[in-house]
Amino acid sequence: MAVAPAFHREAVSGDPPEAIWPWPDGRCDCHCVTLHYSADEGCGGRVPPLPPQLLRAVPRRKAEFVAGRRCAAEAIRRLTGRAAFPGMGEDRAPIWPEGVIGAISHSHERAIAIVGSSERFCGIGIDIERLLTAEEAGDITAQALTANERHSLGNDIDPFMTGLIFSAKESLFKALYPTVKRFFFFDAAELSGLDDNGSASLRLTADIGGEWHRGTEIPFRFCRFDGFLVTRIMIGR
Ligand SMILES: CC(C)(COP(=O)(O)OP(=O)(O)OC[C@H]1O[C@@H](n2cnc3c(N)ncnc32)[C@H](O)[C@@H]1OP(=O)(O)O)[C@@H](O)C(=O)NCCC(=O)NCCS
Repeated sequence: MAVAPAFHREAVSGDPPEAIWPWPDGRCDCHCVTLHYSADEGCGGRVPPLPPQLLRAVPRRKAEFVAGRRCAAEAIRRLTGRAAFPGMGEDRAPIWPEGVIGAISHSHERAIAIVGSSERFCGIGIDIERLLTAEEAGDITAQALTANERHSLGNDIDPFMTGLIFSAKESLFKALYPTVKRFFFFDAAELSGLDDNGSASLRLTADIGGEWHRGTEIPFRFCRFDGFLVTRIMIGR
């Protein structure tokens, strides 16, 4: 079983957004910011206006949206010198300011965002997931893993590997959707490489649009962070 490199930080509700780089590689001109928030009380601080789709959302959904936007705004400030809250498209993809691309994720009262220059990157994805229990892994294995992936794990339920593959594919979706502008599902990619230093890759199993053909290898990074697993994809131009 792969062991993800770990990065620890005490989390306190209401923490301001904090810049981190939990992966054991260079920063690559990107900024990553995280925030612990309360699902009931939000995260305080300056908050973005809610998009119309969320005006009637439950408090938990509003809180995660605000927390993700606060992380994104701080990451944008670090990149460009000026904070800005990304908007939300009808397809739910974030609308980034001119010259910026990035991605947002939230899970169990932790939000995270990563941004980089759109001149340097054509796709950025991030995903944060609480480490799965065996039961949770059993519930998502059939949906998130292909038959090949299940076979390569000996058809056993492996909570870490299931979470890793699920998270990497969500990062992949966020990185490629803004370019291909179409939905693609968990059978569109398979884990194709993995090492214990937190570097791994996915291989596309189908043509998903544009230059993204079946067989293309897409590297990703992963690490553990305060009981979470964080995957990240950055596709350079
Ligand atoms: C959208 C999706 C990827 C993640 O949503 P989630 O489960 O709520 O998980 P996360 O918290 O990690 O991510 C949510 C954020 O993703 C971003 N997002 C949503 N849709 C997006 C899209 N089409 N493109 C890029 N980013 C998107 C948003 O910023 C969203 O947060 P917000 O609504 O508060 O702004 C997931 O729900 C989904 O639809 N998955 C199916 C597609 C897929 O993963 N395919 C696998 C391909 S191999």
